[in-house]
Formats: sequence, C-alpha cells, structure tokens
Amino acid sequence: MKGLNDHIRIAGGKPLEGTISIQGSKNAALPMMAASLLHRGVSVLKGCPRIADVLCMEEILQRLGAVTWWEGHDLYMDCTDADKTEIPAAFTGKMRSSVVLLGAMLSRSGRGYLGYPGGCVIGKRPIDLHLMVLRSLGAEIEERPQGIAASCKRFQGAEVTFPKRSVGATQQGILAAVLARGETELLNCACEPEVKWLCVYLRSMGAVIRGEGTSRILITGIESLGAGNMQVPPDRIVAGTYICAAAITRGKIVLENHPEGELDAFLEVYRKMGGQYQGKSGKLIVDGTGIKNPVAFLETEVYPGFPTDLQSPLMAVLATIPGKSRIREQIFEDRYKAAEELVRMGAHIRIEGRDALIEGGYPLRGCRVYARELRGGAALILAALAAEGTTCVEGYSFIRRGYEHICQDLGISGVEGTEIYESIQLP
Ligand code: EPZ
Repeated sequence: MKGLNDHIRIAGGKPLEGTISIQGSKNAALPMMAASLLHRGVSVLKGCPRIADVLCMEEILQRLGAVTWWEGHDLYMDCTDADKTEIPAAFTGKMRSSVVLLGAMLSRSGRGYLGYPGGCVIGKRPIDLHLMVLRSLGAEIEERPQGIAASCKRFQGAEVTFPKRSVGATQQGILAAVLARGETELLNCACEPEVKWLCVYLRSMGAVIRGEGTSRILITGIESLGAGNMQVPPDRIVAGTYICAAAITRGKIVLENHPEGELDAFLEVYRKMGGQYQGKSGKLIVDGTGIKNPVAFLETEVYPGFPTDLQSPLMAVLATIPGKSRIREQIFEDRYKAAEELVRMGAHIRIEGRDALIEGGYPLRGCRVYARELRGGAALILAALAAEGTTCVEGYSFIRRGYEHICQDLGISGVEGTEIYESIQLP
C-alpha cells in the first residue's frame, strides 16, 4: 500500500552483527508456482517466502481457479479446477514474471490470454523471446492492442535457439515443452539457478528433462505431470544483499540456509574489496570489518557472472569505500535509479551511459529518499544503515516485493511503516 505509511525510518551508524536465516527464493518460487498449474491436483512449495510478488502470483492462480492455502511457510496449491485462461493487465502490469503463466496455461488448456506486462523503471523488459519460443513450439499468438491471445492444441517439440540469454524466456520454453508431443532441444538457455530449480521441481512431478544449469536443455514431452512437492531453495539475491549490509556497516554476520555455490562471482568481488567469508556446516560466516578496497571495474553478466540484481546493493557499499570504482550494467538498460538517491545522501556517483563511476569515501547522511524499484530500494536501506543520523526510505512497498523481513533481519529497530509521515523531522 503506497501512501502515508509506505516508508521505514532507519537510524544508521552501527556495525551489523548476528545470525540471519535466508528466506526462500522469490525468483525460484514464482516459476515453480506457474509449474504447479500443470498438475490437476494439489502441489506444495515448502519454505516459500511470504512476499508481495508471491502473494500476487497466488492471487493470479486463484483467479485461474486454483484453491491455495498456507501452513506456515508451506504454500499449497490445488489446481484441480484451475482451467480459466485469462490474466488481465492489472496483474501482469503489477508483476512481469506472471508472463511465464502463458506457457503453463497453453500446456494445460491449449489457450491463454495475457494482458501486456508493463515495463518498469529498470528497463523496457520486452517479451519477444517468450513469444518466439512459444511460436517455435507451435503456438498461434495474436498480439492485440491490450494483450496477447494465444492458442495451441498441443505443443510440438522442436529445436529452439534463443538469440540472447533470458531467464524468463528459458522458463517459458521449459513450461511449454514438458507436456509437448516429442523432443525439445532449447539452446543458448539462461543458466541461472532459478532455471535449474524449475527443472528440479518439474522432474519431481515426473517431467523428463536433462541439461538444466547448462545452456542446452533437452526435454521429452509426456502426457501428464504428478503433484509437485519441494523445498524452495534459499534466495541468493537476499543473501548477497545481506552480505552487502555486513560490508557497508563493516560488521560480522552468520548466514543460515545460505545458497551454497550460487554466489561465487559476487563473493569473488566481496573478497577483493577486503571482505572475508567462510562456509561452515551449511552456514556462511561473513566478516565485513576489512572492507576497504574500491573495485576498478565490474560488469554485470548472465550467470555465472556478477548478478545484475546485486548491482545496486554493491553500489551502495562502494560509495563508502575511498577511491574510484566503476560498475557497468550490461543486462538492463536503466538500472541506476538508486544512484540519484544515494547522491542525495552524500555519495559521489556519476552515471555515464551504462557505467556508474563512484568516488567513494564521502560520509553518507540520513535524509528522506525514495525507492523506485526492488533492488534499488534495498540499496537505500543499506546506505541508511551506514549513514549518520536517520533516513526515511519511502516506497517500502517496492522492497516488500522481494524481502520478507528485511527490517527484522538487519536489526532495524526503526519504525516500520507505522509512523505518520509528518512526525519525521528530517533535513
Ligand atoms: C529475471 O527477470 C529475474 N526476475 C530478474 O530479477 C533478474 O534481474 C533477471 O532475470 C536477470 O537475471 C525473475 O526471475 C522473476 P531476463 P527476467 O529475461 O526473466 C531482455 C529482481 O529484482 N529480454 O533474463 O525478466 C531483458 O529486457 C528481478 O528480482 C528481451 O529482450 O530477465 C533484459 O535486458 C529484476 N526479450 C535481458 O533480456 C525478452 O523476451 C535479461 O532479461 C525477455 C528478456
């Protein structure tokens, strides 16, 4: 809910310490929820994060006819009667990842209508690769003024090469191919862990899939899928965000339930900055006290390269490290919205095309800042933790889309969205 209480107030200046358990992965859970539509019965995702995007996807499944309920963090989805095939723009505009439901609806019912997903502040976010893979597998797709109407009696397996790596389009192709007639070979697939986890979940439902986690995925279509029942893996971006929180406050934390082996590129950068970490019996011990080295050049890349979703959180950390750092955002065309807010807090950051040039080491001061999207908003919370004085981060609802309890996790005892706006006297 945006408005008077859509903010949090953070008092900065303390090194972060303590043990934090990492929530289930948003970007793994969402396509797994779409995959649950492919079984005409009850599936369950254990350890599912109760975040806005998951609740939105749950609402969409209900709109399609599913019955859903929670037992703690376990999300049950009874898709026995989920035979509706229309998702209006009110949903797709709010949450782009609902576009993967098109492949699932076509696989299940042979038709689907989807309102156009809106763009967002990080870029245009087209869906041409989603439509390309569905057409390649036999779908008839009509692009209407308000949305997309698609039909396909049954997908026909084929060889499909993606012209560029796309997490969502790869997941779209997988959701279309698992119940297709014959063999499908997807080439130049995204290798992000969330693609792998979708394949693991589908395999638990009986799907015949090989090659997940590589750029070549082979799928043998079958007649039907059984119930899904799987633990949602830990969220690698939330884990990376919290490691940045330890870095920016020069603190020491222990992460439980951390996504082993999914943060190598990020941890490589963290080590170069002077951070230390040690994996120990399923935990990650993180020591940010030695953070002091700027990063001369870093570019975001598809997995296993440095993840674009940690670009803004890292930028906040680099703003506190004396010296020149440079980040190049190669995945999305407009993902520096947090920079202008960090500058308002005293950071010295200049954007030149795809590059952010950071002159770190200037003190950050608390003030009122505005989150405009999920990961940029998380970066502002990190900056607030390191700033002198109090920061009011507006737009907390953006952050709630992906972080289940970031305030509690980061020991932010500041008021979380209950204080009336006017009472905050800030510079
Ligand atoms: C997923 O988005 C994630 N979202 C994003 O996380 C993440 O940043 C992104 O992958 C990259 O890792 C979910 O998983 C729900 P892409 P997705 O298709 O699938 C272009 C977060 O903060 N493209 O891999 O939409 C696209 O514009 C979110 O949790 C096309 O050109 O990303 C981008 O430039 C943000 N045509 C690039 O490909 C298409 O049809 C990579 O996008 C599709 C994408």
